[in-house]
Amino acid sequence: MEGRYDEVRDRLYSSRNPVVLTGAGVSAESGVPTFRGEDGLWRNFRAEELATPGAFARDPLLVWEWYDWRRQRISQVKPNPSHIAIAQMGTRHKNLTLITQNVDGLHTLAGSKDVLELHGNIWRLRCTECGKVVENREVPLKLLPRCVCGGLQRPDVVWFGEAIPGDVLSECIERIERSDFFLVAGTSGVVQPAASFAGMAKRAGAFLVEVNTDETPLSYMMDVRFSGRAGEVLPDLA
Ligand code: OAD
Repeated sequence: MEGRYDEVRDRLYSSRNPVVLTGAGVSAESGVPTFRGEDGLWRNFRAEELATPGAFARDPLLVWEWYDWRRQRISQVKPNPSHIAIAQMGTRHKNLTLITQNVDGLHTLAGSKDVLELHGNIWRLRCTECGKVVENREVPLKLLPRCVCGGLQRPDVVWFGEAIPGDVLSECIERIERSDFFLVAGTSGVVQPAASFAGMAKRAGAFLVEVNTDETPLSYMMDVRFSGRAGEVLPDLA
């Protein structure tokens, strides 16, 4: 396997436009629960039942309680060696694009710059009436939070059935279509549109690498797979 580490490192640092895509598995070793792992349930709900506009319309308090629980967990954790390794890759390779599905902000905390946050950020709130977005780091949050205009605020994240903000998505696609190296770490590869990014990179001719403890629906198209914990594999690749 060591030979493969050398090869992937060489590929990464000799590439022109590397792209890294991360998911919840990268934050797992910090203590942030993943969505589809054993600890993925909260009060017997799955993410797909809570992270939807319909759930929020029916029961905003329930949805907010889940997000408030996640915010409390995240506020107590620190970036782990995966986040730090990816930040180092970005320091060593100025053209590196980092796309994350994570809303926890840990990549930025670890020092990554210009992170493309596909699913938003849990530390921002958005008014459901006037659309105003504010940063808010209160934990626990006083539920239900209200905007200065009086409107109910929601987490500024992307829910199932909602579109990714157009500017973020087009930026991701543009970078992937130019990529020659694509590393995907800690994502189950089942949630769109991120699930189709590896295929897009492949069509662009990129060298594909996956880091995951388990096989995923993306595994078959990889040039190299590292089966292991991101916090152990990524520092060796950086
Ligand atoms: P998932 O919970 O679906 O998948 C986590 C992936 O990380 C799995 O493939 C695990 O095998 C892997 N994994 C777990 N621990 C790991 C470790 N220490 N090192 C490496 N891999 C590890 O999370 P995502 O793929 O990020 O969206 O989920 C995608 C989206 O679905 C989320 O952004 C969220 C969710 O519902 C919304 O809320 C809209």
